[in-house]
Amino acid sequence: DWTASSIVEDQVARIREEVGDARIICGLSGGVDSSVAAALVQRAVGDQLTCVFVDHGLLRAGEAEQVEKDFVEATGVDLVVVDASKQFLDALAGVSDPETKRKIIGREFIRSFEQAARDVVAGTAGQNSPQDAEQHPVRFLVQGTLYPDVVESGGGSGAANIKSHHNVGGLPEDLQFTLVEPLRDLFKDEVRQVGLELGVPESIVWRQPFPGPGLGIRIIGEVTGERLETLRAADAIARDELTEAGLDRDIWQCPVVLLADVRSVGVQGDGRTYGHPIVLRPVSSEDAMTADWSRVPYDVLSRISTRITNEVSEVNRVVLDVTSKPPGTIEWE
Ligand code: XMP
Repeated sequence: DWTASSIVEDQVARIREEVGDARIICGLSGGVDSSVAAALVQRAVGDQLTCVFVDHGLLRAGEAEQVEKDFVEATGVDLVVVDASKQFLDALAGVSDPETKRKIIGREFIRSFEQAARDVVAGTAGQNSPQDAEQHPVRFLVQGTLYPDVVESGGGSGAANIKSHHNVGGLPEDLQFTLVEPLRDLFKDEVRQVGLELGVPESIVWRQPFPGPGLGIRIIGEVTGERLETLRAADAIARDELTEAGLDRDIWQCPVVLLADVRSVGVQGDGRTYGHPIVLRPVSSEDAMTADWSRVPYDVLSRISTRITNEVSEVNRVVLDVTSKPPGTIEWE
């Protein structure tokens, strides 16, 4: 029978057996999945674990700070923060195709983990010797991959590739790490139970999902620094108002999407504007495999719309996505 405590017991034993006394790194995003995966591995092999937070420049406002505050404070885990925003944005320059974006992001994540792994070893050895890193590479990488990520990336038997999740179908072919994915058979609600069992703070366990590729797959069109700033500002307003309205637990997640290649005519004061639309995509779901659009009260939608068009200068229109999944997916790319 399924219980969170039996999953923890099984996985801890498996991880210990697989990893032995080797060092291991974990890609930590601050979200539910990677936090629970990290907590499991920490339970299994303690301070052999170093968590790596990659700031890829595609984060929402305040996210890097949140990880340190919530997760590191609660667990005392060893955390390395890598600023890779220039590397990611350079790699994404000129790219609009969704799957190409996803594969680039998946690859750059791994390149960042490889660099962090070398630094971890060098740091452990107390000297910055690349030779040392070659002798004792960190071979294991923990990822918070869930069952639905595998299925949607075409990993389930006979399943179509709907989109390449950054940590499954988006992995580079020359991957050197042995992946440790203790949540690979689980759905999100099960992962939340496991997280609670491990004592992961509720502020993390009940966080809404946010995809690893971040805002990179919520800008429809090329990803640029300016567009990211626009989307980040609009997203912060939407999140703020939904939280203020007490809707965080009713809504599964609410992607905020910038249609960067679309413009429409507007009017503000006496002036004509020619700006971009923002799409709100609030959904309710059990496991992200299917979803329905959330019936967010009109007055909340109205506040979000007014604030975004007043406060974000590039945006002159806010639209609501009323498509279920299927036929739409939750994210637009
Ligand atoms: P879709 O858009 O396929 O999304 O309906 C289903 C769920 O998965 C999240 N998602 C991702 N999460 N890496 C992730 O960590 C990814 O590449 C990725 N793509 C989608 C999405 O936010 C939703 O919760």
